[in-house]
Amino acid sequence: MPSLNYDTLFLQIKSLLQGEIDLIANLSNTAAALHIALNQHWTGFYIVKNNELVLGPFQGPVACTRIEKGKGVCGSAWLNKQAIVVDNVHEFDGHIACSALSNSEIVVPIIVNNEVQAVLDIDSIEYSAFNNADLEFLTKVCTLLSESFKLSQDKVN
Ligand code: SME
Repeated sequence: MPSLNYDTLFLQIKSLLQGEIDLIANLSNTAAALHIALNQHWTGFYIVKNNELVLGPFQGPVACTRIEKGKGVCGSAWLNKQAIVVDNVHEFDGHIACSALSNSEIVVPIIVNNEVQAVLDIDSIEYSAFNNADLEFLTKVCTLLSESFKLSQDKVN
């Protein structure tokens, strides 16, 4: 990833979410802000609904709509309640290729009360596009979004 001022970007995202309780609105603006700033191939969310991950707000090419628990990078991050950084998706056992152009990926879960509510997924055309600073920043964004899930009146399940 190009070098970014993550402190500034975090404040921008925080102010975008400020005062808005609608979950889809907040996930949509966060996906757009991250996609423009990080300039990656695909940026979006999968939301846990009826024990499946279902495609949520995103930016980029069309993507697969449903992912089972434990499947792919997203389903593994959900199952293990842990972020995953994949330097080369072709070497990740079970990787779900929504786009033939993706070569590396980062997935960060959004957790509320120890339950995964959604995952943030970013795909890159570059190999090894995501480092520890990216992981730390995106984890902070997902912690912020967990507040949106708590505040939201939406029925997402
Ligand atoms: N590659 C992901 C699937 C989602 S798309 O990349 C948008 C995975 O293996 O879970």
